[in-house]
Amino acid sequence: MFQDFSAAFEKYKDTFFVNLNNGTLGLCPSVVIDQQKAELGTFEHNTSTGYGAAWARLWALQERLGRFIKARPQDLFLRPNVTLALNEIIMGLQLPADSEILSTSFEYGAVVNILHFKARKDRLSVRFINADFMYDEISADEAVSKIVSQISDKTRVFVVSHVFTGNGLTMPLEKLATALRARDVLLVVDGAHAPGLLDLNFTNELKNVDYYAGNLHKWFMGPKGTAFGWVNPLFQDQMQPAYGSWTTEEKILPGMGAYCDHPFAARMLWSHSMSYASLYGLESCFDFWDQAGSEFIRTEIQKRMNYLEDGLNQFKIKSLKGRHSDIASSLLCYKVGSFPGIEFDGLFVRHSKPQLQVGLPRVPGWPVLRLTPHIHNTREELDSAISTLSKFV
Ligand SMILES: Cc1ncc(COP(=O)(O)O)c(C=O)c1O
Repeated sequence: MFQDFSAAFEKYKDTFFVNLNNGTLGLCPSVVIDQQKAELGTFEHNTSTGYGAAWARLWALQERLGRFIKARPQDLFLRPNVTLALNEIIMGLQLPADSEILSTSFEYGAVVNILHFKARKDRLSVRFINADFMYDEISADEAVSKIVSQISDKTRVFVVSHVFTGNGLTMPLEKLATALRARDVLLVVDGAHAPGLLDLNFTNELKNVDYYAGNLHKWFMGPKGTAFGWVNPLFQDQMQPAYGSWTTEEKILPGMGAYCDHPFAARMLWSHSMSYASLYGLESCFDFWDQAGSEFIRTEIQKRMNYLEDGLNQFKIKSLKGRHSDIASSLLCYKVGSFPGIEFDGLFVRHSKPQLQVGLPRVPGWPVLRLTPHIHNTREELDSAISTLSKFV
């Protein structure tokens, strides 16, 4: 029923516990870790040539990433995580005095803090709308009009997650982007959970988004410390990088290869000395996705979510939002209260055998237990999770 991917992970996966918290950081296929390790050695053999070779490889990576998320490589920039990519996007926005930043009550804490930081620095205001209406059985159109109704005369930018970390609810971005564009409100998307989980397409449904940042070290299973930013070509001229470096002025050294022809990608490139091992590890990760087929991997993830959801349903344990909704949850989330008496040691369910690790995201309202299986999870692991959790009902 499930494709067994165990062999691809066995070298580094700890099988002494059941990891159902892939939503925090995914496990890499072993080849990805092996490549990172090998890259450190190769670089060390000749540090000078290693540095010089970086730009061509980074550009090739942007091209591969572009193919994966259907975006142009010149609209992308690589960063170690979404928090940094969003910092550059949000802190770099040039908003008129007195502007309001609008966001929702479901955003990730670190991102909320970027908004407060931006507001304080530029003397702007920030407002978080209560997004509880997304739990209702509403359509994508209704969700968008609820958000749009909250726009004030001062609102200049709306910052929102693609997939909310605490409940997995998924923003209908295509409709939202069109509605906000018509009102001259910029749309900045925190896509921390989307790459690898959803089929992203920046030439189609995401083309009217203005700014987007996505993690590669969650569902995409990329090396820890890999993420990207995407900026709509309409706004690239206005966007300045947070730091000056070799490629941030107009005159770019010829050795920078393809970046010389793409001013935005060049400005955003981290062209200073650093270790590239994590980024290069993405090459094996793209190979892994190509070999297995990206649609196939996404389906295998979803099958595992469905299996858990159906398994717990048998015991009348209901997820916060079913999978058959316009704004369905992409992550499997439950009220902790659905499991009376459950206790945790960190993220482990107390007294579970084998130990079960879950997500306990911080969300407004009630405490949430989040199950985020990935392809390394076997059917036996999921059965043991269902058995552990069903004991609490
Ligand atoms: C919705 C959301 N935004 C942002 C982040 C931050 O990701 P990172 O720590 O990789 O920057 C996370 C991490 O879990 C998240 O879930």
